[in-house]
Amino acid sequence: MALRGVLRLGEVCIRVLDMKAARRHYGDRMGLIEVMTDAEGKHYYKAWDEHDHHCIVLREADSAGIDSFAFKVYDDQTLTDLEEKLNAYGIPVERIAAGVYPKSGRRLQFVLPSGHTMHLYAEKEQIGNTLGTSNPGVMPDEGVVRGFRINRIDHVLLGGVNIDENAKLFQEVFEFDMTERLVDADSKQSLALFVSCSTKPHDVAFVLQPEPNRFHHVSFLLDSINDLFHAADLIGKYRIPVDVNTNRHGITRGATIYFFDPSGNRNEVFTGGYVHYPDTPVLTWDTSDLGAASFSQDNTPRESFFNVLT
Ligand SMILES: [Fe+2]
Repeated sequence: MALRGVLRLGEVCIRVLDMKAARRHYGDRMGLIEVMTDAEGKHYYKAWDEHDHHCIVLREADSAGIDSFAFKVYDDQTLTDLEEKLNAYGIPVERIAAGVYPKSGRRLQFVLPSGHTMHLYAEKEQIGNTLGTSNPGVMPDEGVVRGFRINRIDHVLLGGVNIDENAKLFQEVFEFDMTERLVDADSKQSLALFVSCSTKPHDVAFVLQPEPNRFHHVSFLLDSINDLFHAADLIGKYRIPVDVNTNRHGITRGATIYFFDPSGNRNEVFTGGYVHYPDTPVLTWDTSDLGAASFSQDNTPRESFFNVLT
């Protein structure tokens, strides 16, 4: 397999205002699997088809948003190489020893031009997806896949300043591809930039905001449109606040639902989207067709979708 270097989004640390309500949302309703509580009262979750110990960390705080997000890289040498590249690029890097973050090997920590704190790590304890690795079958035991039937964490959308610089950093240092961009029709200013380190339409995206370090959403992959509709039924049943009900993005072509956790952090569940390869041309949308770029089934942009961030 050719995918090396930076592999995927591995972890998002989300600040929540009320841990009890957050656990009900992420655990009981969405069906993420709670795997650990640490001494500081943070709660750790994984999706069923992930092998690593956790992908979501919830921390109770006075404000919503994210503390940090982390990408997993292929191996320790990759981490060493990327530290050199970040330093040469002019990004100060802090080294964090193995074990400081539970179940995790050593990390690199740095701040993006958009103001977000990002980590890179190569090691995290693997606890498996319950199928095992010998004649694994295709479905885990009853009760493992619950709630929204989430397969895995997929991507984050970050709001902030200097998004062109973010995209340049991801392309030049982390070797991501730009897949799509949304620009102002008149000024050609970048409004949203989508970058991929895989065959997905994006692994992270940046949306222009007047303030640094804002959080737009974290997204989770579902298997199918059936599962998306099933999640929509549960969102209705549990009166979970909806931002955008079932629709499809023009950008990425993913079928999507956006909703909010009890602290106002936006979540997405999605399925589908095209396959990206490194020789796929960059797709450019502009604001003259903003409705189709954002929600292609009704071609209607949503005010809240562009302006509500935590
Ligand atoms: Fe998304």
